[in-house]
Amino acid sequence: MTQRYQEMHRPQFHFSPEEKWMNDPNGMVFFNDEYHLFYQYHPFGTTWGPMHWGHAVSKDLIHWEQLPIALYPDEHGAIFSGSAVVDWNNTSGFFQDEPGLVAIYTSADTYPDSDRPRQRQSLAYSDDNGRTWTKYEGNPVLSDVNITDYRDPKVFWHEETNKWVMVLATGQTVTIYTSANLKEWKFASEFGHQAGSHDGVWECPDLFRLPVDGDEDKQKWVMFVSIGDNPEFKEGSRTQYFIGDFDGTTFVNDNYDETVLWLDYGRDNYAGVSWSDIPSNDGRRIYIGWMSNWRYANQVPTEEWRSAMTLPRTLSLRASDDGVRLVQKVVSEIDSIRKDSKVYQDLTIESNNPIIFHMMSSLLEVNLEFEKQASNSFGLVLQGSEDEKTVIRYDAEKELVAVDRASAGDNVFSASFPAVQEASVKLENNRLNLQIMIDTSSVEVLVNDGKVALTSLIFPNQPYEQLVLFSEEGNTSVSSLKLTELESIWGK
Ligand code: FRU
Repeated sequence: MTQRYQEMHRPQFHFSPEEKWMNDPNGMVFFNDEYHLFYQYHPFGTTWGPMHWGHAVSKDLIHWEQLPIALYPDEHGAIFSGSAVVDWNNTSGFFQDEPGLVAIYTSADTYPDSDRPRQRQSLAYSDDNGRTWTKYEGNPVLSDVNITDYRDPKVFWHEETNKWVMVLATGQTVTIYTSANLKEWKFASEFGHQAGSHDGVWECPDLFRLPVDGDEDKQKWVMFVSIGDNPEFKEGSRTQYFIGDFDGTTFVNDNYDETVLWLDYGRDNYAGVSWSDIPSNDGRRIYIGWMSNWRYANQVPTEEWRSAMTLPRTLSLRASDDGVRLVQKVVSEIDSIRKDSKVYQDLTIESNNPIIFHMMSSLLEVNLEFEKQASNSFGLVLQGSEDEKTVIRYDAEKELVAVDRASAGDNVFSASFPAVQEASVKLENNRLNLQIMIDTSSVEVLVNDGKVALTSLIFPNQPYEQLVLFSEEGNTSVSSLKLTELESIWGK
């Protein structure tokens, strides 16, 4: 198994399956001291195909153990995306003495004697910590012949109304259903006809509550909606979010319909949803995304497997001048793979005179803070032999952070891949801080304490060896730079 994780481009601290194709994260739930991660999985090929739920577990969200496939296609079709919950009070009646897990997923097939896709919601349950599953004999539990794109149920328990709530992607809206027992579902409301981005089909919704600025008396609801690839837009598939209120029935958007909030400004963070049932004494809301893009996911240059997940990230809400916004941070458990660090302070990058640092490892975390001086353009380059490089640049005039992977490495597999990914960011007290997690085939850039994220795949042919700080047409200060070696999660 460890041999597998030494292939070229194989992520060393991100989850990827031992072999074959993976897409969306599914059924994330915490139960009996384990974080479960199920995922869209095609065990017979390295491109998308008949969907199963693959399965992995972790004690710390960083080190993963892959388990046998959890859900196989059946008489109702393939197993598309969905969620899992702990049925603490046995509302479903599936369990005997102890609470167990219920998975709520989309059964995907076609209407009889037709090739029109049919998507319906089904249940499976497990009383052995997700190791084996029984499909509910009453499947499917929810269907609608009028809606073709009808999928990706995310279910949670709503305390105030004592009900299960399901958010479901329904064409280009999210439909909310409620249930007392997970088996019978009642329509509650529909959200989003005009709101946010409609650049593609809506997929993989999530809905959860978070305190604003840590104030438990000030809570807001966050809705995630992923939007599918559409050839008209260069970004491919991506994820938006809404901020608002939810009373158990209806979601009310705080913002104007025209407001579009993006979860990530890189190309490679899709279909993200959050963990269910993280204990209240922990209290975190943690999500993980699929670190790829439907535009080229089937073509990326990996051989035995395709796709990885992002690092798990903790979400919080901050009030800002523009309104309430999401902030994301790599989970603190990342500390378990941090090794030696080097710290530099109070550097000056002179105009057109870059400072070169040796990357102690190709698995590296970079934390740095720039302070703008005369220069309007500064940043860093990660570079290896063969003239391959990834450039992370701040343009203070345009107030844009850019991650440029046009020359990052292999990019011939898709004309959409060699992209510059940009996000609007304002300096804070004239400063810009970056946290950059560099793995074998990805960079995750978190800007200004996680207010903006850019997640990007890269495929260098040789590991990057140098980190180069640059400043153009004027000097830039670096108040601190910290390089930390990271350890592979797959053993030596
Ligand atoms: C999102 C998605 C889901 C669907 C699944 C199929 O990436 O298209 O809407 O359930 O992938 O694998």
